[in-house]
Amino acid sequence: MAKLPVLRIGKHTPRYPVIQGGMGVKISGFRLAGAVAASGGVGTIASVGLACDHPLFDGNNYFDINEIAVSEAVKASRTAAPDGVLAMNCMAVLTDYDRQVRSACVSGVDIIVSGAGLPMKLPEYARDFPDVALVPIVSSVKAADLIVRKWGKLYGRLPDAIIVETPLYAGGHLGATKMEHVTDPAFALENVVPDLVKYIEDTVKADIPVIAAGGIWDREDMDMIFSLGARGVQMGTRFVCTEECDAGARFKQAYIDAIADDVEVIMSPVGIPGRALKNPFIKKYIEGDVESKPCMAACLSHCKYLENGTTFCIAQALVDAYLGDWETGLFFVGSNVVKCKKLDTVAGIFRELVGN
Ligand SMILES: Cc1cc2nc3c(=O)[nH]c(=O)nc-3n(C[C@H](O)[C@H](O)[C@H](O)COP(=O)(O)O)c2cc1C
Repeated sequence: MAKLPVLRIGKHTPRYPVIQGGMGVKISGFRLAGAVAASGGVGTIASVGLACDHPLFDGNNYFDINEIAVSEAVKASRTAAPDGVLAMNCMAVLTDYDRQVRSACVSGVDIIVSGAGLPMKLPEYARDFPDVALVPIVSSVKAADLIVRKWGKLYGRLPDAIIVETPLYAGGHLGATKMEHVTDPAFALENVVPDLVKYIEDTVKADIPVIAAGGIWDREDMDMIFSLGARGVQMGTRFVCTEECDAGARFKQAYIDAIADDVEVIMSPVGIPGRALKNPFIKKYIEGDVESKPCMAACLSHCKYLENGTTFCIAQALVDAYLGDWETGLFFVGSNVVKCKKLDTVAGIFRELVGN
């Protein structure tokens, strides 16, 4: 095994250069993130929709309860991993993005990871928390350059790390505006990672680690991407089939049962492609006769369902998946879902990845 790089993200250095990707709704909650942080990686809670089954959520107070739920999740993960590195994944497209970022910072998170839209205002929302590292997710050097310029100009701040997520294999919403980008080799990690490392060295002239995400499963994948200059990996799908993952048992079983033909890329209500399982809900959506539950909370700043009644309420569909409803849920997956064969433990995955 090649030597592992040291991944320093702002003031935080996890024992291992492995980030567990944020997975909403409630797939990576406080249990999974706490277990990963305790094992020496970066544990990431996904902030989206944490209110959905909170005892104080009454159907009308979603944003207030989300803020509370974000804070509670950070504190619960911290209890599980007092010395670990914890991140909150806040999607820039969320209506309450600013509140979620602030709540995570106030509650003592170490890192904010932010994608699903360019997180142009992130430094503003986190400005009172200089120890909190800010990490955007991009799929191209062009997007990284836009963020670097804007953050530099407006806030005098650079990203503390940059995650490159390839739409070719990743789970959930993909960093692609068009369907054809999802299979475009120009967006492969093998192409974007070295280009981004070079851009940071030659143009930004700063020490910003590049973290690769999408389709990474084992140590061989890690060593390959480290050899191209990445200093960390972010993995989502692999951490779903763990005892500690916060998703319901049916969600995990869907991963174990999935075969390649079950994986589909759809246009999500947000207007970007997303990779998901072709369950009864997605089959109906593809056929054009999906029935949506009512809008849960106007939680997105761009949502086709809210704007014109087409597509479906993605929040409700993701909550249904988390709760394990195979008929009505939206089960996001990465292409590696076909490799999920059994329930593992977070410690077991780390043992295999880092020989610990
Ligand atoms: C079920 C699921 C939900 C996800 N939700 C989010 C999310 O809320 N925010 C986000 O930035 N990325 C999300 N992702 C992407 C992951 O954080 C991660 O970057 C990606 O899955 C990496 O690819 P891999 O699954 O092949 O390891 C999600 C992925 C999955 C599988």
